[in-house]
Amino acid sequence: MKKVTFMLFILTGIVAAALMVFKPATVSGSEDRLFPDPSTTIPDSVFSVFQKSCMDCHSDDGSAMARGKVNFSKWETYDAAKKVKKAGAICEELSDGSMPPKGWKKNNPDDVPSQTEVTRVCNWVKSIK
Ligand code: HEC
Repeated sequence: MKKVTFMLFILTGIVAAALMVFKPATVSGSEDRLFPDPSTTIPDSVFSVFQKSCMDCHSDDGSAMARGKVNFSKWETYDAAKKVKKAGAICEELSDGSMPPKGWKKNNPDDVPSQTEVTRVCNWVKSIK
């Protein structure tokens, strides 16, 4: 093998190995969120509210009916327009108290979002519009 060809061969190997080691970054602590789009990605402080109060239902492990409306496990697969639309509905449902549902709140009193958390979620919603 010619020296140059050999060098190219080695270089290709190094690049391939590097790509295997340095997989595209995912947001820390949230394997559920693939392909983060920085402009509409849910920040951890907001995502933790959804984890606590919504993902019993609105996730791959939740209920089909809730997941059909909003699925936080699949958030990053929504396009920007869908994220903005869903985010608006999320703030609305949270603010008027219709989400999480009454029955769930009764059974999970400690996980009901606080007023501070509702405000935090809605401020994030405003920031992506
Ligand atoms: C006990 C299960 C459950 C929990 C917990 C829950 N939801 Fe829901 N959610 C549902 C179901 C079922 C639907 C679909 C039926 C409906 O609209 O009432 C829904 C619908 C929605 C919708 C869509 C409304 C529409 O008409 O498009 C939004 C937005 C939503 N939920 C947000 C949330 C948020 C935010 C939380 C957490 C703060 C949450 N939900 C917690 C079960 C749940």
